[in-house]
Amino acid sequence: MGISVDLSRAESYLGKDELRKAREKAGMICRALYEKEDKHKVLGWRSKEESVLNLEKIKEKAEEIRREADIFVIVGVGGSNQAARAVIEALPQRSGPKIVYMGNTLSPYTIQQTLEGMEGKSVYIDVIAKNFETLEPGSHFRILRQWMGKRYDKEEMARRIIVTGTKGSRLEEIGAENGYLFLEFPVPVGGRYSAFTPVGLLPIAAAGLNVDEYLAGMEAAQMDCREHGEDNLAVRYGAVRQLLYGRGYDIEMMVSFEPRYGFFTKWWVQLFGESEGKENKGIFPTSSVYSEDLHSIGQYMQEGRRNLIETFVSVKDQAASVVVEPCPEYKDRFDYLDGMDFADINRAAEEATWEAHAKGGVPCIRFEADKASERSFGELYYYFMVACAVSGELMGVNPFDQEGVEEYKRSMFAALGK
Ligand code: PA5
Repeated sequence: MGISVDLSRAESYLGKDELRKAREKAGMICRALYEKEDKHKVLGWRSKEESVLNLEKIKEKAEEIRREADIFVIVGVGGSNQAARAVIEALPQRSGPKIVYMGNTLSPYTIQQTLEGMEGKSVYIDVIAKNFETLEPGSHFRILRQWMGKRYDKEEMARRIIVTGTKGSRLEEIGAENGYLFLEFPVPVGGRYSAFTPVGLLPIAAAGLNVDEYLAGMEAAQMDCREHGEDNLAVRYGAVRQLLYGRGYDIEMMVSFEPRYGFFTKWWVQLFGESEGKENKGIFPTSSVYSEDLHSIGQYMQEGRRNLIETFVSVKDQAASVVVEPCPEYKDRFDYLDGMDFADINRAAEEATWEAHAKGGVPCIRFEADKASERSFGELYYYFMVACAVSGELMGVNPFDQEGVEEYKRSMFAALGK
């Protein structure tokens, strides 16, 4: 396993007995997750069979995109783009198309800038929308189709547009009417649980990343959760955060000393925010990227209200080395760093923060990946999805719906005359 978790600095806030009981309960929920029938069609993410669809088609199309596109536009919002984006942004840049994101804003400035950046380039797009009712991706698809219609003939457009949606949706029909490649968004998988479906797989493959490794990570975590239902990383994490919630710790901040994990923390915020924040309940999830944010939020973390949990996501192998060479002639007073590598400096800063915040009364949790890789992202996504399902059930909310999001949509649609 490439992921480990350190809960010692959070468990120390809790009693041994309550911890044992909470783990037992979380373990039972985890085991039941793999035993129960998917009556409400929300558990498709549990297994590879139900989520990993169209893999061969995806690999083939990804090769074509990598060969022929200068720009690959991923049109999607929330669960329809976050998982892929987090992996793409975190792993080293490869040759191939520039990946651009649309369908996630209504800002005309951003839309115009993106379109201008596409001028004169070879463009492919993947429109990802579960039911094709969401305003942002739907409206951007219209704009992009018109943009492409002025630059490519019908046949060329058909090669360059991919649509990812559920079977029977209007998006599938549009695909069939125009000859676009259709990839299936499985019905029993919600957006924020869709990392291992075509929603995540095509963008990741088109970015030149190894989807087989990514899926191997998923499988390893899945086997762990299924076979060790009573004691796995997701169960232990789920149990601890629920006990802390019961003690009034109702904000959890995911932090990383790797800016390249910034989009991963956004994915985690969405997963837990949309899954738990309902019926006036839920731990409020937020995120920060250190060390920059230590200079803004660090003060609050150290001495503010004691209702905060801090969850570090770390990488053992920082995969880079930058040594501070001595330069006595400058007399800049940073000579204490002479000969040190930023890999060690960054790690020292993380350890110091962990110690200081723990001492300041913040329960601290750490997830650590051996290295940033497709495989470790596969593992992390799967563990957090199981943890979220377990945690939601412990909290007594349905972690798979998001009725609250519909409320703002209703008033927006009314304002727009839908
Ligand atoms: O997790 C979810 O279900 C949501 O965040 C959706 O992914 C998001 O609202 C986008 O939905 P859709 O793919 O239907 O446009």
